[in-house]
Amino acid sequence: MTRLVYVLNGPNLNLLGKRQPHIYGHETLADVEAAVRELAKELQLEVRFHQSNREYEIIDWIHEARETAGGIVINPAAFTHYSVAILDALNAFDAPVIEVHISNVHKREEFRHHSFVSARADGVIAGFGTQGYTLALRRIAFLMDQKK
Ligand code: DQA
Repeated sequence: MTRLVYVLNGPNLNLLGKRQPHIYGHETLADVEAAVRELAKELQLEVRFHQSNREYEIIDWIHEARETAGGIVINPAAFTHYSVAILDALNAFDAPVIEVHISNVHKREEFRHHSFVSARADGVIAGFGTQGYTLALRRIAFLMDQKK
């Protein structure tokens, strides 16, 4: 089993740290990437970290992960709430998937309460701030080791 993990981020997360900091905090996506990479070293994982505002790019990375990766951590951002296409792509991926939301989506507007991706995710982390990403990576490493 490969030790490669994809960490995928959906639309507007490139603005992390600048966009609605009262909801998403002050850390940037580069800060998140650095924390993920540091933990990945400890867990002996290789990470491909991507962000896109375009749905098809996220789908293409999930397809790429099918061939190469042992797990996916994904914050689909707004795509969470309406993308059947991302759900379909994840359903074609056979290893662990953890869904991450920086904010507690269940405490927010009703349209954020439903996630298409949760129908596939092996676990969901919401409301842990950017710390959710490293928690998700630990869980993916655990699940990957369990599968061996
Ligand atoms: C988000 C929550 C989504 O509802 C929102 O559209 C985002 C970010 C989060 O990380 O809390 O862009 O996924």
